[in-house]
Amino acid sequence: MIRVAIIGASGYTGAESVRIILRHSEAKLVYLTALAEECGEVGEVFPQFKGRCDLQIEPLDFDKLSGLADVALCCLPHKVSMGFVPKLLEAGLKVIDFSADYRLKDIEVYEKFYGVEHTDRANLESAVYGLPELFREQMKDAELVANPGCYPTGALLAIAPLLKEAVVKTGSIIVNAVTGSSGAGKNPSIKFHFPNMNENFFAYGVGSHRHMPEMEQIASQIAGCDVQILFQPHAGPFDRGILSTVYCQPKAKISSEKLSKLYKDFYSSEPFVQICEDGPAVKDVAGTNYCHIFVTCAKGRIVSFSAIDNLVKGASGQAIQNMNIVFGLEETLGLA
Ligand SMILES: NC(=O)c1ccc[n+]([C@@H]2O[C@H](COP(=O)([O-])OP(=O)(O)OC[C@H]3O[C@@H](n4cnc5c(N)ncnc54)[C@H](OP(=O)(O)O)[C@@H]3O)[C@@H](O)[C@H]2O)c1
Repeated sequence: MIRVAIIGASGYTGAESVRIILRHSEAKLVYLTALAEECGEVGEVFPQFKGRCDLQIEPLDFDKLSGLADVALCCLPHKVSMGFVPKLLEAGLKVIDFSADYRLKDIEVYEKFYGVEHTDRANLESAVYGLPELFREQMKDAELVANPGCYPTGALLAIAPLLKEAVVKTGSIIVNAVTGSSGAGKNPSIKFHFPNMNENFFAYGVGSHRHMPEMEQIASQIAGCDVQILFQPHAGPFDRGILSTVYCQPKAKISSEKLSKLYKDFYSSEPFVQICEDGPAVKDVAGTNYCHIFVTCAKGRIVSFSAIDNLVKGASGQAIQNMNIVFGLEETLGLA
């Protein structure tokens, strides 16, 4: 039985991780942490867990944690996470980190987009990017997995077959995506507060979203050459989900049928990717670890769509899929 600590258990992805681990047959929760003011019995902090889990959410004590858990799901905000991860590794735990702190390999890019100095270069170097469909093998020996961002998960799964098989021009890919309000975490901001989100739909982060360099880094790795992506995020009036639409120029004419076959072959052994015959919908994947994809040709462009639940395949579900891989468990445990 894998013993799991959740660091930042009082947040959205922390709670989602609790939900999934509670139904995992080979993993159990042993330690849940948060800042002092958010602590208490987990069933009191999150009534959905009443009667299902009797652990306390308590302030993190590294001495207590050492020897108590095998893995930490580190659900902390970026910039905060890199202050905790080295100590979690030193305490002998494997770490799946949810933040952006270990995703961008180029420190200058990280510091430009996140506006702080990176304080843990050593672990950044060895961290493995946790998109199982592409980096499963590298993850098997990893001590630290950088769980992908929610938008990059949807966008990269939507275009990976095109990049791997060199079907598209890589200089001008456009990713348009819309997220629900849980993507911003539990603390409301003016933009993501209910009165602004409800019955509303808007673009934000124009030309500057932090997930753009992450998409470009991994897309370039998949393609084996420089990939340029213009990423435009939007927010829509729903709790969970990300719908991404990706526009690419093919290198040569290709039919929708051939594209569909390419995707079906590429993802044929993937337990959590489904290739659809029409545009996917966020409601169809809500609460699941699935990514639904549809690819077609229109006006000489290749257009691919993906739908994921940002809190599951975009965060906690993918983290637990990664945890299963790191510990040599059946990859779908707790998730299928
Ligand atoms: N939401 C998503 O859809 C999503 C998707 C992919 C990745 N992520 C990433 O996952 C991470 C967590 O996101 P979230 O949406 O769960 O955020 P959240 O709801 O704001 O939760 C953040 C958690 O971190 C804790 N925390 C904040 N500052 C801290 C500090 N200085 N020291 C210790 N603990 C601290 C909070 O504790 P308190 O409750 O005590 O404040 C809370 O438990 C972020 O890095 C985010 O970018 C989120």
